[in-house]
Amino acid sequence: MAVDTVLTIAEIRSVVAKWRQAGEKVAFVPTMGALHDGHLSLVLQARAEGARVVVSIFVNPLQFGPSEDFARYPRTLKDDVEKLQTVGADVVFAPAAAEIYPVAFQTSVINKKMSEGLCGKFRPGHFEGVLTVVLKLLNIVAPDMALFGKKDYQQWRLIERMAKDLEIPIEILGCDTIREKDGLAMSSRNRYMSAEEREESALIYKGLSSAKAAWERGERSLDKLTALFKDSISQCPRMKIQYAEIVDRFSLEPAGATVAEKSLVMIIAVLFGDVRLIDNLEF
Ligand code: PAJ
Repeated sequence: MAVDTVLTIAEIRSVVAKWRQAGEKVAFVPTMGALHDGHLSLVLQARAEGARVVVSIFVNPLQFGPSEDFARYPRTLKDDVEKLQTVGADVVFAPAAAEIYPVAFQTSVINKKMSEGLCGKFRPGHFEGVLTVVLKLLNIVAPDMALFGKKDYQQWRLIERMAKDLEIPIEILGCDTIREKDGLAMSSRNRYMSAEEREESALIYKGLSSAKAAWERGERSLDKLTALFKDSISQCPRMKIQYAEIVDRFSLEPAGATVAEKSLVMIIAVLFGDVRLIDNLEF
């Protein structure tokens, strides 16, 4: 059966209410569309939880800065729905902007700490836009669980934090990053790269992996570990590191001099012309 696409809050609520009445579990995967195997892996994981799966597709204007790529962000609804069909999503919620942000809309969610570093430093207002839309979508769909990719590590941790801080009764799951064969993390923005840039971008995962390998060999100097990543990126002069930090996995605060095992993540952002790529690896 074709996967249904619904456009309004009232419709998605009524679909979910029917499942609830039948005693079914509901999982939710929020996305901005332009779907790839990374997104689809979240749907597959949701299916593996034995739940009905709602996928939202909404390019959220609130989370894009004035000089960011909102206008050119790929919109491929028809293809997306076809892909979702192949992985067994149950319904797609694809609201118009006016459905989510009616004229009188004026409330937002602000994280006062964890949003300030890493990507937050370079994208003012971005996480406010993300948290606001995610809270709103969680309230609309009211699932048992919502799934997010670790690819957007800071985003996932912020959503987890919001759920705890605001007593949102929904389980927040973090799912592994899906990568291309050469290691590049799948992203809707990868299509902005030229063939040559696409090839060179493999240096990002190579750099993260060489830092992780050094960590596993016992290297504990965070400066040396970060330098390994920088060395890899420096092989392509057009690629610029926006930040590269090793932080605590849970608080995302800079790791201190004494470093606990199994508690770190290296998070990076790289600029390739006007394409911004993010990635991370847990140590
Ligand atoms: P989007 O970039 O479309 O990503 C939707 C979900 O897919 C996010 O949870 C993201 O972390 C996950 N994802 C993206 N690439 C992935 C990969 N390679 N492997 C695994 N998971 C991956 O993130 C957003 O949309 C938005 O900020 C959103 C949460 C929908 C709010 O607007």
